[in-house]
Amino acid sequence: MSAMRQNVPTIEPQRLGAPLVLQNVHKRFVQGGRVSHVLRGADLQVGASEIVALVGESGSGKSTLARTIMRLYTPDEGSLMFDGRDVTTARGRDLREYRQRVQMVFQDPFASLNPTHSVRTILKRSLPPRLQSLRDKERDDLFRDALEKVGLTPPDNFLQQFPHELSGGQRQRVALARSLAGRPDLVLADEPVSMLDVSLRLGVLNLMLSLNEQYGIGYLYITHDLASARYVGARIAVMYAGDIVEEGPADTIVEEAKHPYTQLLIQAAPDPDRRGVDDLDSAVFTGEPPNLSMEIQGCPFQFRCPHVMDKCRKEVPMKRPVGDGQLVKCHLYA
Ligand SMILES: Nc1ncnc2c1ncn2[C@@H]1O[C@H](COP(=O)(O)OP(=O)(O)O)[C@@H](O)[C@H]1O
Ligand SMILES: [Mg+2]
Repeated sequence: MSAMRQNVPTIEPQRLGAPLVLQNVHKRFVQGGRVSHVLRGADLQVGASEIVALVGESGSGKSTLARTIMRLYTPDEGSLMFDGRDVTTARGRDLREYRQRVQMVFQDPFASLNPTHSVRTILKRSLPPRLQSLRDKERDDLFRDALEKVGLTPPDNFLQQFPHELSGGQRQRVALARSLAGRPDLVLADEPVSMLDVSLRLGVLNLMLSLNEQYGIGYLYITHDLASARYVGARIAVMYAGDIVEEGPADTIVEEAKHPYTQLLIQAAPDPDRRGVDDLDSAVFTGEPPNLSMEIQGCPFQFRCPHVMDKCRKEVPMKRPVGDGQLVKCHLYA
């Protein structure tokens, strides 16, 4: 660490991002003897300083995947690698270090900020141990820097404010500032704008893009809205019934979708000219995702797929490359 960086507090990440690799991640919950299969063999990669948009219908397991990446849950099967280290079952100091480098921003800025804490206290509590020893003045400089970077200016006006004094958009900016204070490599943003007024959404999404560009912070942007996935993500990963069925460069996914589910998603997505209703949950789909209690043999999309074949009911398709950086889990491309 340079002498300059020690004297001038800043949120610049110490590294330029780090890759995350999930392989075959399963997560089951057992409640009153009933098993729910929420993640069913999900594979995902987020490259260093990359923005990946994870898109899927409500209930497809997006939040569970994010919580598993944060290691709030431990996968029942499969592995989680970060920056070349296996963190699938990391504990103690290793887990704390990992959680410092990977931060999370939640959907509901009202619920995620403690209402009894000022913005200063909220930011203070997010600091990693190595920054806890800063003197008050240095710490405030760091916070001012973070608040300025998320567009809350002048920062001194915001440090002593409480969440109820802020608008939804300002709260989500505080949540983003908090995610930055620990200098993360990767931020998991779980539907960060879905509870904001439509007029504020673009500002928060653009903020993520600019923080990515300026500081190399990687993002996993989780959404059920294909239009915003395309806007934010360099790559898009499509989730269905606890699995990632297709991923690739954002434009390729939208223009040359290969998986029948992705094709259905894109057909169902409304015209981009009719913004505001582009919401997968309201889109018209035939059929329902499989029941969570069901153990599926073969492909999770077999029950709704217009191209279903015998093989789909027997074997889980492997993830295969079908184009430049495009990967699909479907027997049609075997
Ligand atoms: N702790 C849990 N115990 C039992 N079921 C859960 C648990 N967490 C999530 N689920 C179920 O898993 C499914 C996927 O949830 P979630 O990951 O929140 O999906 P998404 O974020 O895509 O809407 C939902 O049907 C939800 O009810
Ligand atoms: Mg969710």
